[in-house]
Amino acid sequence: MFSPQTYLSRRERLRKTIGSGMILLMGNEESPMNYSDNTYPFRQDSSFLYYFGLELPGLTSIMDVDEGKDILFGDDLSIDDIVWMGKQPTIKEHATGAGVTFIEGSGKLGDYLRRAMGNGRAVHYLPPYRPENKIKLFNLLDIHPDELAENASTELIIAVVGQREIKSEEEIAEIELAVNISADMHIEAIRMAKPGMLESEVAARIEEIALAANVRPAFPTIATINGQTLHNHYHGNIIKKGDLFLVDAGAESPMHYAGDLSSTFPVDTNFTELQKEIYRITLNAHMAAVSRLFPGNPFRDVHMTACREIFEGLKSLGLTKGDTADAVEQGAHALFFPCGTGHMMGLDVHDMEDLGETWVGYGGLPKSKLFGMKSLRLAKPLKPGFVLTIEPGIYFIPDLIELWKSENRFGEFLNYKEIEKYRTFGGIRNEEDFLITEQGHRLLGKPVPKTIEEVESLRD
Ligand code: GLY
Ligand code: MN
Repeated sequence: MFSPQTYLSRRERLRKTIGSGMILLMGNEESPMNYSDNTYPFRQDSSFLYYFGLELPGLTSIMDVDEGKDILFGDDLSIDDIVWMGKQPTIKEHATGAGVTFIEGSGKLGDYLRRAMGNGRAVHYLPPYRPENKIKLFNLLDIHPDELAENASTELIIAVVGQREIKSEEEIAEIELAVNISADMHIEAIRMAKPGMLESEVAARIEEIALAANVRPAFPTIATINGQTLHNHYHGNIIKKGDLFLVDAGAESPMHYAGDLSSTFPVDTNFTELQKEIYRITLNAHMAAVSRLFPGNPFRDVHMTACREIFEGLKSLGLTKGDTADAVEQGAHALFFPCGTGHMMGLDVHDMEDLGETWVGYGGLPKSKLFGMKSLRLAKPLKPGFVLTIEPGIYFIPDLIELWKSENRFGEFLNYKEIEKYRTFGGIRNEEDFLITEQGHRLLGKPVPKTIEEVESLRD
C-alpha cells in the first residue's frame, strides 16, 4: 500500500468535488468459479483500491461528505475462518493503513444508509459490474439490478475519472514495475517459442514469469499464431516454422497497476520478405502514433495518424488505393485495423472501463458508430499524467475480407484482388505503454525489441 496520507488526501479531494451527500463505494466479494469455496483469484475493485488500498474481500465504504468522515464497513474473521485461512490483521488494523478511523460491522451499513436517505441525503455510487454488488446495491438502495447503471452518479463518475486519470509519481513507479515484468514476459516468449510447441507452452512460460515475481497477469494472455483474431485466448495450436506469433500479455504490479505490451515475431530465425513488408508498415504506424503524443492533442488524432499510415503503407503494396485521408475518414482502413490505437492504463488494464467510455475516453462527447472507430476507447485531448498504450496493428481477418469483398465495400479504396493474397497472413501488433509529460511523452519501462533487426536477433 501507499502511505495512509495518499488515501486520506485522495478521499478528501473526492469529498470536496462531490460537495454534499454520501459516496457509497463497494469493494468486491470473493467470486465462486463452480462452488462457493472454489473461487476465482480475488481482485479488489480498482476504485476501492484507489481510495482505500485494501485488498480484503467484503468491504464497503461510505464517504460521508456532509460530516467529512469516511467509514469502513467489514467483519473480522471468525475462529472458523482463522482455522482455514490463518490469523489475519483485523479490520481496524487494515483501516489504519488506509487512514480510516471509523469502522463498523457490515450489518450496520443498511441502517446507516436508510437513516441518511430518510433525511433526504443523496447517495452517490458507481456503476456496478459484479453480480454480488448488484444484489447488495439492490438490497441497500431498492434499485432493480437492471436499473443500477443508469442511476449511478454521473457526478461521482466524472470526479473519480478526473482523479484516477492523472497518475502521480508513486503510481507511475508502480506502473513501471508492472511494465518491466511484462517486458521480461515478452522477451522470454520471443526467445523460447519453437516449431512443434503448443501455443500453451509459450503462454505458460509467459505467465510463469509473472507468477515467479509474485504477481499475476493483468488480463488473459494472448499467445497465438492467429493474431488476426483480436482477443484470441485459445492456446491449443501447434506452432509451425514460418508462422507469425503474436503475444499480448502483461503483469500487474504488487499494488495492482497494469502493464500491457504486445509483440509479434517469426517462428523462424528471420521474418519472410512478405512478413517484413507488413511488419514495417505497422511499425511505421506505431512510430507515427507515438510522435503525436503530447498534451492537448486529442487521442483521436493519434489514432487517425496510425490509420492513415497503415492505409498509405498498404497502398505501396497495392492493397489500397485512392485518397488516404478520405478513405480513413470513411472507415476503409478498418478492414485491416478494426480497433483502436490505444487505451488508458492504470489500476485496470483498460483503465476505468467499468466507469464507461463517455467520461474516461471521450470527455462526455459522443462516440462514432462507424465500424472501426466505434472500438476506439480513447479520443479526448491528452493531459500530462495520462498513461496509455500505443498498439496499432494490421490484421487479415478472412471472414471480414470475405464479407466486404462480397459487397465490394469501399471498392474505390480497396483492391480485393491483391488483398486475397494475404487472406491467411495472420496479424501483427506491437504495443508499448507511455506517460504523457509536460513536454510530450515518455516510454514506460524497459523497451522490448521491436525493429525487425532487434526481434530477429532474439530468434537466433
Ligand atoms: N491487452 C489487451 C487489450 O488491450 O485489449
Ligand atoms: Mn492494450
